[in-house]
This record gives sequence, C-alpha cells and structure tokens, in this order.
Amino acid sequence: MPPAVLARLEAEFDVVRGETVPEGVEGLFITPRSKMTAAAIAALPASVKIIATFSVGYDHIDVPAANRRGIIVTNTPDVLTDATADIALLLLLAASRRAREGEAMVREGTWVGWNPMQLIGWQITGRRLGIVGMGRIGQALAHRARACGMQIHYYNRTRLAESEEAGAVYHASLDSLLGVSDYLSLHAPSTAETNKLLSAARIAQLPKGAIVVNTARGNLVDDDALIAALQSGHLAAAGLDVFTGEPDLDARYRSLPNVFPLPHLGSATIETRTAMGMRALDNLAAVLNGKPALHPVQV
Ligand code: DGY
Repeated sequence: MPPAVLARLEAEFDVVRGETVPEGVEGLFITPRSKMTAAAIAALPASVKIIATFSVGYDHIDVPAANRRGIIVTNTPDVLTDATADIALLLLLAASRRAREGEAMVREGTWVGWNPMQLIGWQITGRRLGIVGMGRIGQALAHRARACGMQIHYYNRTRLAESEEAGAVYHASLDSLLGVSDYLSLHAPSTAETNKLLSAARIAQLPKGAIVVNTARGNLVDDDALIAALQSGHLAAAGLDVFTGEPDLDARYRSLPNVFPLPHLGSATIETRTAMGMRALDNLAAVLNGKPALHPVQV
C-alpha cells in the first residue's frame, strides 16, 4: 500500500489482515489479485456490507453474486486515466521503435556501433491510431497521440462530439475501425462480450504491419491468434501491459522479440496508486457509516 493509504487505513479502521474473512468484518479492501468468485462470496460472513476494490476493473469480482447477498461492490474510477494513458503511449512507442530489441543489444553487449539499418522501426507521426473504447483512458490516449501527430480513429458504443471536434473519426463498427488502424489500442472492459474481441479474423482485418497495444485486460485478445500474427509478420509488433492468466502468461510472449511486455503497470505511479487507495477508503468509510457508496459498480 502507498504509505498515505496505509496510514489512513490504520487510523480510521479496525483492520484484520488475511486471506480468510472472520465473522464481524464489515468491509473488504481487496486488489485485483483477490478472486471474488460466486463461491468465495457465498463463503463470506453475513456481516460483510461492502467489497471495495483497489482498481477500476472489477472482472475479478462476481458483482451479481455480491449484490444478491446485499453486498455493495465499489471501484476507483477516474484517478487512473492519465497514468494508464501514459503507459499505453509508452507501449505504442516502445513497440514501434523496437525498444525491447535495442535494450537487449545494449545490456547484452551485442551492440557493435551505429548502423544505418540497425533496428529500423516505424515512425508514428501521420499514422492512424484506432482506439477501441473511447472512455476516459481512450480519450486521454487520443490527446497524447494527437500531440505526436497521429490521426485518431475510434469505435465506441456512443459517438463523442468533443472527440470528433478535436479531429477523431468515428467508426460505427469494430470491423470498419480495424481496416484503417496502423496502430490499435484496446480500452474496453473485460466482459463476456469483449472476451477474445481481438480474434484471428479481426487481426486479419488490420493492415499488414499494424501494431497492437493492450493496457485493458489480457482476455480481450486471442493469444494464439495474436502470437501467430506476430510470428508471421502480419503484425509488426505489440505492446502489452496485461495478459490472460497473469502473472502466468503464455511463455511465447517472453521470447518474441517484437513484443514489448510490462507487468500490469498501467496505474503504477505513486500519485495514482495513492488516489486509488484513498478512493477505496472513501467508499469503505461511507458504507460503514451508513451512507451511500461513492463509486458503486453497476452491472
Ligand atoms: C485497474 O485498476 O483495473 C488496473 O488494471 C489495475 O491498475
């Protein structure tokens, strides 16, 4: 926990730590590593009123099962936007400029000097960035990418006048977006609908040499299809912060030179993690004091 969050946690709450939840506990403060399945929720004592997750994503919680037991689930929206958009841009640039291979060359001592054709990448200026899910993080990435001279295209449930005024091009279907995306960045939540959204058929619709970025959730991507496209050269590269089954990711991602991987660092700045923790504590404090939750998850 960030120090300020820990200090407040201990000052304001009577804390019990552990993997099991004793009778009398009223609120749970969890991270995405705690898998709150229907069975785990059924095993909670009747005293639990709230599960406050230290994350904006809540795919690790069976929210309907919690709600059926009268347990409120809360998350930490808004405060991760800039940090996550920064990581998406970092991945986009790192994948595009072959940062993984370059870093390995320097560290391993295989760099023999400047060469006109050494680790040639792709310039992002003037290229088209397709954004899947134009929520807060998608918009923040669009803002950054526009400043780098990229042309923004997006697919979203609703059209966004403000984004379009800033020059973003709306696509009414994902298929239409894929066809124009030199770069594709995923910003959709993990749901039954978005599971393996980036399938083999959809990857085939991306232009040859496209680059994929994922800071959302690993299961938005069909791993076999993505890996095959990276191996065949249909995709030039991928920048990935999230993986199916993380931290036990598909081992092929570790060795593919055209994958720039990170260990789910999207929100990992001290400012953001502190704000996330405070938001989770605000929700706990509200519900435990008989007030409405500030950020209840609605499904
Ligand atoms: C979230 O909050 O859902 C992130 O993925 C964790 O940083």
